[in-house]
Amino acid sequence: MSLLWEDEILLAPGPTPLPKAVREAALKPMITHRSRAFGELAAEVQEGLQKLLSVSGPVVIYPGSGTAALEASIVNLLRPGDKVLAAVMGVFGQIYADMAAAHGVQVRTLVVPDGEGIPVDLLEAELEKEPDIRALLVTHNETSTGVLTDLAAVGDLARAKGVLLLVDSVSGAGGAPVDVEGWGITALATASQKALMVPPGLAIVAFNEEGRRLLQEETMPRYYFDARPFLKGLPEGDVPYTPALSLWYQLAAALRLMAEEGWTQVMERHERVARGVRAGLRALGLKILAPEEMASPTVTAFYLPEGRTPQDLLPALEGRHGVVLARGLRQLAGRVVRISHMGAVTETSLRRALLALGDVLSGWGLPADGRQALEAAEREWSQKTWVP
Ligand SMILES: Cc1ncc(COP(=O)(O)O)c(C=O)c1O
Repeated sequence: MSLLWEDEILLAPGPTPLPKAVREAALKPMITHRSRAFGELAAEVQEGLQKLLSVSGPVVIYPGSGTAALEASIVNLLRPGDKVLAAVMGVFGQIYADMAAAHGVQVRTLVVPDGEGIPVDLLEAELEKEPDIRALLVTHNETSTGVLTDLAAVGDLARAKGVLLLVDSVSGAGGAPVDVEGWGITALATASQKALMVPPGLAIVAFNEEGRRLLQEETMPRYYFDARPFLKGLPEGDVPYTPALSLWYQLAAALRLMAEEGWTQVMERHERVARGVRAGLRALGLKILAPEEMASPTVTAFYLPEGRTPQDLLPALEGRHGVVLARGLRQLAGRVVRISHMGAVTETSLRRALLALGDVLSGWGLPADGRQALEAAEREWSQKTWVP
């Protein structure tokens, strides 16, 4: 029988656990969004997002999930018939490519095997083959495989080749560094329910200066996702239609927590916690999909031992230990399990997860020892580079 949900350790890659301050912020009474109070809330949220993402102008926030943010990046910047190159390193890269194609964009794909990152020189070669490509579509952090893209390097390439750069950072922003203006990212799409530690329901798109200029021109048909009224109104605390107000309060609370910890420290913590998780998993004899040098700071995907499936592991972890991990997606569904370490996931939760994994694996007769996994993780976790 499963434990009460309050006792569950939620380590699926979104929605992620909420800090207490974020949970409590949901209880605030409603206000009208045509009020000075909303203007103050909007200003606080904008300041936080602009610092977190390094953007010099308003960041657009739609009611919606990450998919909405991706669609908004497309309809505001691309035109039907445009040719784009989509870098596909997993399920979400393919979704972004399919979405652009659904909007009448000519999509070329560069597909790499699951667990691999996108080599920038291959992207460059593809762009050179077809000089009329107008934009690159890239996944910052591929949640299906746990691979992180070197966005700074891709941004350099995009600038050198004069192409737009549209980025899916749904599971990156808040856990991996992002510099929208500095890295030449035309649009970066993210969502509330991952490393930002807010419930699902906010689709966030940061356009750089060039993106904010380009989207003023005609693109695809757009109304709900039209970024123009947001960019015009937000500096005065005005939004074109009803915002998901409680989630804005919660986002403000989450950004406050991040600012208090320090933006750089938040990123360093994610790196360090992720290193510990990977060390712990390896100590259990589990093979990680991502090569260490491009491993995600927010989510880790690992293969199951020969002959075992997620259906064997996940119910055992959940039922006996209250630890909730996630199965693989699409082509990886039967072979891979994913563990999130983003946002408010604490080392305490991850300790329980490693011990629980050790228990289930050793119960299967495998030479896995949860205590040893914990020691391996603790060695990484103890290497703090700052004093909280
Ligand atoms: C990288 C990435 N892109 C897009 C999405 C889709 O986001 P949503 O489910 O919020 O629409 C997800 C969700 O897991 C994701 O991880």
